[in-house]
Amino acid sequence: MKSKASAPGKVILFGEHFVVYGVKAILCAIDKRITVTAEKTKERKISIKSNIGKLELEPNKLISEINSPLKPFYYLADKIIKNYETGIKITVESDIPLGVGLGSSSACCVAGAAAISRLFSYATKEEILKLAIEAEKTIFENTSGADCTVCTYGGIMEYDKKNGFTKIKSKPNFHLVIANSNIEHSTETIVAGVREFKENNEEEFSRLCKEESKLIEDVLNELKTNNIIEIGKKVIQNQEYLEKIGISNNKLKEMVKIGHSESFGAKITGAGGGGCIFALTDDSNLNNTIKQFKNNKYDCFAVKIDFKGLDTF
Ligand code: PMV
Repeated sequence: MKSKASAPGKVILFGEHFVVYGVKAILCAIDKRITVTAEKTKERKISIKSNIGKLELEPNKLISEINSPLKPFYYLADKIIKNYETGIKITVESDIPLGVGLGSSSACCVAGAAAISRLFSYATKEEILKLAIEAEKTIFENTSGADCTVCTYGGIMEYDKKNGFTKIKSKPNFHLVIANSNIEHSTETIVAGVREFKENNEEEFSRLCKEESKLIEDVLNELKTNNIIEIGKKVIQNQEYLEKIGISNNKLKEMVKIGHSESFGAKITGAGGGGCIFALTDDSNLNNTIKQFKNNKYDCFAVKIDFKGLDTF
């Protein structure tokens, strides 16, 4: 018997870094997915196969002793098969580039939690999300859970530390052109750098947090009418704030400039320091934006918002 589930990646549209200090962020799921297939095996082993490698272990190992990006799958399988006699085989297929801030690990945790748990019994989306966040904590202990939430439910949502998640009702029709710097980054290191910036520039940082909060409220209003031109202006403004807190670099600045030249606005998405940027477009400027990136030899691809979230087969 096999069970299959897929979950989308995500993009932080607005508010990364400031969200750590209580400001709202806006995230959306994207139509690039990770698909996980789980099947029971007679041999009591947990084996995981993906395009970034393999992991094969007996159950009951200490998670802290496993040094593999695949350990969330091991965590999930080990937890779920505790009351059964079976082993488990997991196959992961991804069309989300890995480790560049597009939610690949959250999508793995959500699709993994769904595929593995549904091999044994029905689980609701809420139960799957809870399991997925537990699994994500094996690789990023301080996760807010925002990524797993948007990967589970799809669509756009606002998030803040105090109030958690609220799904945004509007269904904007924009395209995001995502360009990858191919520079690896560590979210934890960059978040620590921003903390240092804050400690050395308390007043400026507090002013930027206020400006970012105002910007997010404006975007939430503009989303109601799908005012892409105004939203694009906010993308540009948000990028300026990110530059100020020191998470950009020459390559990212150049990419943002290229993205901006034909689109409504471009900015870093996620931690920065590397990873990806996006350019906000609609049908009128999508192709020219892609052309600009390609002419300048940058990897890029277009996505739309995914409104489906977790899907099980
Ligand atoms: O690089 P990503 O997509 O994992 O995003 C990190 C987002 C931060 O705001 C920088 C950190 C956080 O925990 O919210």
